[in-house]
Amino acid sequence: MAYKTKEWRDSMRLVLDYNNVTDKFLGEKGFSKKQFKDMKAKADHAFEFVKQNRGKDELFMGWTELPYNQKEIVADILATAKNVRAKFENFVVLGIGGSALGPIAIFQALCHLHYNELPKKIRKGPKFYVEDNVDPVRMKELLDVVDPAKTCFNVISKSGATSETMTQYLIIADLLKKAGVNIADNMIFTTDAARGNLNKISAELGGIKSYVLPDGVGGRFSELCPVGLLPAAVLGIDVNGMLAGAAYMDKICSKRSIDENPALMAATIQYMAMESGKNVGVLMPYSDNLKYISDWYAQLWAESLGKNKTLDGQDCNVGQTPVKTLGVTDQHSQVQLYTEGPFDKIVTFLSVGHYKEVSPIAHGCENIPDVGFLGGHTMEELIQAENKATAFALTKAGRMNYTITLPEINAFTIGQLLFLFELQTAYTGAMLNIDTFNQPGVEAGKKATFALLGKAGYEAQKEEMDGAYAPDPKFII
Ligand code: PA5
Repeated sequence: MAYKTKEWRDSMRLVLDYNNVTDKFLGEKGFSKKQFKDMKAKADHAFEFVKQNRGKDELFMGWTELPYNQKEIVADILATAKNVRAKFENFVVLGIGGSALGPIAIFQALCHLHYNELPKKIRKGPKFYVEDNVDPVRMKELLDVVDPAKTCFNVISKSGATSETMTQYLIIADLLKKAGVNIADNMIFTTDAARGNLNKISAELGGIKSYVLPDGVGGRFSELCPVGLLPAAVLGIDVNGMLAGAAYMDKICSKRSIDENPALMAATIQYMAMESGKNVGVLMPYSDNLKYISDWYAQLWAESLGKNKTLDGQDCNVGQTPVKTLGVTDQHSQVQLYTEGPFDKIVTFLSVGHYKEVSPIAHGCENIPDVGFLGGHTMEELIQAENKATAFALTKAGRMNYTITLPEINAFTIGQLLFLFELQTAYTGAMLNIDTFNQPGVEAGKKATFALLGKAGYEAQKEEMDGAYAPDPKFII
């Protein structure tokens, strides 16, 4: 069944405005019509790559089908979420990286900005926390505010072998046992279908309610599967709206021409930007609700594109450093650098057509012109004016920037945005001719941690770290 009316869906369509990367506005610092035209073969290749391989688990492209293939899973998630909302005071996600950044982003985007501080009767659901670090202080202080016996813990790990998440699991499982709570009553696992340690743990404990992180879906592309859908449903977020938004964007991006396909256009711009030395990609949402979309995007972009080999085995060292900022806050911090520093950045603004609130500015201080002019406007007008003003200032200084506008922030537009960024990443990876979906560079640090903590099988690595890589006191002052 279609989600809302066509008219409503079209009124919620995301808009990409890329005027400020063109030579019309940036002169010789901008891209010309010819440069866009010259990208046609690469853009065609990227489009075909995604089209031909979508849904293929062996290539980790199962995420393209998530808007369509989860009807029963969603029904199950909604039933579980109803139960969790009724039964628990807190819902805590234990996970890291791709198993945490989506839930954090969606919580911030679609819930009240002070959700946990709202009275229960307004919140209607449990308080919500995502613990994506192993800072010992953070764990202790979480336990100062949540009683494990009154908390549902969603352990999210595809591998069940991630030290951070499994450390948290061990601590919480022990606390539940000590409190006389049946672990199965207070935990839900989201993990691989069959492989991985969480399945073994579930079997040992006689069965823990578990959701599947599908085979062909990597962590950073997993927000629209149970990784993100269960936490969202527990928060009362319209998960069907998110999936409908993703499907809507997928349909828009089914067009081959970059002039009609916003994800392909954004990928083309980013590829050309990288080619012209823009090694830094700034994402600047003008909305506190969108603040952690930047964290989610940073992982998607960095882990997917930061690679040292092409698909045919050539050395490459490609990628672009994502920088997370917040408008207007970072106008008073980083925009000086963006406007006058090196020409190594491209800025993507996330703008909002209509905020949930406008917040009128009261009249006052009429005899102080610096202040008085603000009265009678709204905070919505102010933030939108500052957004436009920053884009103008950057453009005038010859700095590349483009804007994606969400007509409103709601489940449908957020679903569109996530899918737009996922497609953009897949297209860009295809243009770079790399494996967008692996992350070999993350492994080295994981292995070194195993060695330092004495995991069996990592003795040689430990020896190497204590030997040739042992710090030389000469360089320590
Ligand atoms: O994107 C990724 O693949 C990573 O960020 C993983 O999500 C992260 O390392 C956590 O892995 P796992 O889900 O296996 O615990």
